[in-house]
Amino acid sequence: MFITLEGPEGSGKTSHLKPLAEWLTAAGKTVYTTREPGGTSIGEQIRHVIHDLTNTEMHPRTEALLYQAARAQIVEEVLRPRLLAAELILCDRYYDSTLAYQGYGHQIIPLEELRQIIRFATRGLVPNLTVLLDLDVEIGLSRKGKQDEWNRLDAFTVDFHRRVRVGYHELMALEPARWVVVDASQPWEAVQRDLRAVIQSRLNPLNVVLDD
Ligand code: TMP
Repeated sequence: MFITLEGPEGSGKTSHLKPLAEWLTAAGKTVYTTREPGGTSIGEQIRHVIHDLTNTEMHPRTEALLYQAARAQIVEEVLRPRLLAAELILCDRYYDSTLAYQGYGHQIIPLEELRQIIRFATRGLVPNLTVLLDLDVEIGLSRKGKQDEWNRLDAFTVDFHRRVRVGYHELMALEPARWVVVDASQPWEAVQRDLRAVIQSRLNPLNVVLDD
């Protein structure tokens, strides 16, 4: 099963992955956590290029292709083999980030063109479940400001990030069966509780309770 976490900046995705994985492992699942862009040696090198604050001249088309290059590598090297081995994968961002940021955010490349390069990079690998950690953009950016990894995209305008959030909501409306939204403005423990409840109901539709 392939689960992705999405959300605007500062929504706290990353801080939730490890505790979720530990909870699932304790419940007997074989879990693998990873992130995009990154998750492979090549992907992490590409991440560095995309997010380098000094690369101010990077065109959105270049940016879009670099994300897909990192994505093609993680799909082939990590995601497909592990999913074929029936592992449960939790991934911090995946192609919905491309649609939200490079599509809705920049408003330069039509979504249909982005979908074509995503299709090439992923060979059609779609998540079983995508959770949107939803949060007001200003709150997210101010949270992020207090942390260390401030990247080139964080430095885009607040309007850019507002369009990203609207984009996520539109993507969710297009595929309601794949998406679940969790309110990321809640205290961390409440967000973690909601995430567990969402994942549990997908893994376990009969709602047999897993241990805390
Ligand atoms: P994060 O690790 O803080 O989520 O940083 C990843 C950044 O990359 C974030 O600003 C969103 C951005 N991003 C895209 O713009 N497109 C993509 O396809 C992906 C995976 C990430």
